[in-house]
Amino acid sequence: MNFDFWNGRRVFLTGHTGFKGGWAALWLHKLGAVVKGYALEPNTPVSLFEVARISDVVESQIGNICDLDFLRKSMIDFSPEIVIHMAAQPLVRKSYLDPVGTYQTNVMGTVNLLEVIRTCASVRSVVNVTTDKCYQNNEWDWGYRETEPMGGHDPYSNSKGCSELVTSAYRQSFFNDESMVSVATARAGNVIGGGDWANDRLIPDALKAFSSSKPVIIRNPLATRPWQHVLEPIAGYLELAEKLYHYKDSFAEAWNFGPNDEDCKSVGEVIDSLIKHWPSSASWELDQEAQPHEAQSLKLDISKAKGRLNWCPQWRIEKSLQEIVNWHNFWLIGEDMKNITLNQINEYETEIKDRYEQK
Ligand SMILES: NC(=O)c1ccc[n+]([C@@H]2O[C@H](COP(=O)([O-])OP(=O)(O)OC[C@H]3O[C@@H](n4cnc5c(N)ncnc54)[C@H](O)[C@@H]3O)[C@@H](O)[C@H]2O)c1
Repeated sequence: MNFDFWNGRRVFLTGHTGFKGGWAALWLHKLGAVVKGYALEPNTPVSLFEVARISDVVESQIGNICDLDFLRKSMIDFSPEIVIHMAAQPLVRKSYLDPVGTYQTNVMGTVNLLEVIRTCASVRSVVNVTTDKCYQNNEWDWGYRETEPMGGHDPYSNSKGCSELVTSAYRQSFFNDESMVSVATARAGNVIGGGDWANDRLIPDALKAFSSSKPVIIRNPLATRPWQHVLEPIAGYLELAEKLYHYKDSFAEAWNFGPNDEDCKSVGEVIDSLIKHWPSSASWELDQEAQPHEAQSLKLDISKAKGRLNWCPQWRIEKSLQEIVNWHNFWLIGEDMKNITLNQINEYETEIKDRYEQK
């Protein structure tokens, strides 16, 4: 990975007020990129955007991805070379409550973004962040490959499958041989890390419960997911964006970024491990209420990213859980969370550099 590539690059990052967007904004800033963020205000009482002072490191534009004219003005005024699209309604359970809003943001939001990129002459490279849940889930024990059909049982998963299809159609129709723009999609696993306060996600729910000495209520302890620290897929997005910039069509396709098979663990196993890392006593209880459908088994095949992008998982699940507990406890004692987050990024980046040097 050529970190120097990012120095001075102009990056339009949607979703910078969210969990993954906040980490991406800080990392890009650290690498010297000039970043403009476009997203709604944070929608949780505490957010990474606030506690890590993300607006210090990006030009922060608060706006709706569904507002085509405002999005167009915002991007064209900035003239980015690279666009990373993370703005989305990302929660399965919320998508059952608000399917229309989920499709509007995740599908028409993608259409709007790609439509604006068509008219923004400066853009060269685009990464649309979708999800592992975009695949038609067959409850297989093996990982989905990038060529497998799109699907999605619930509105969230399905809307991300739609976002994939929209991207593919725009690529074939508009970002083809005559275009200077190269567009890829990225399907990450279940992303964990410090600074996530979303509802109905395992780690944030657990940390909230443990911090107030309550058991966390678990809906589906046997469900397996491809867990990975937030820095893992972001490293993949950066690698991919750089390759798209240099080589155009050779990388303009879909990419999985997940953990190795050993870290595709069940919810119960992950929560038991988190409890071991938590400094005081903690526990979980089974939710007895009926739950909406969620996939039971989900894995990603990451051979393609390993082989062609030279990307590979760096932090195992235990290391990631320890870093999350550290991050959260630093926050609880009032540390400077921008520095703490940058320290974790620095450690991760150094490990990647060491790995490349050893090769
Ligand atoms: N967290 C995960 O486990 C995970 C896994 C795979 C993929 N993803 C994808 O990664 C991306 C980021 O997820 P996250 O976990 O950081 O979510 P998040 O909820 O923390 O952040 C979502 C971001 O999107 C913005 N947003 C939402 N609706 C918007 C709208 N209508 N207009 C403009 N901005 C809007 C929010 O303001 C926020 O900045 C999403 O596309 C999500 O689907 C997340």
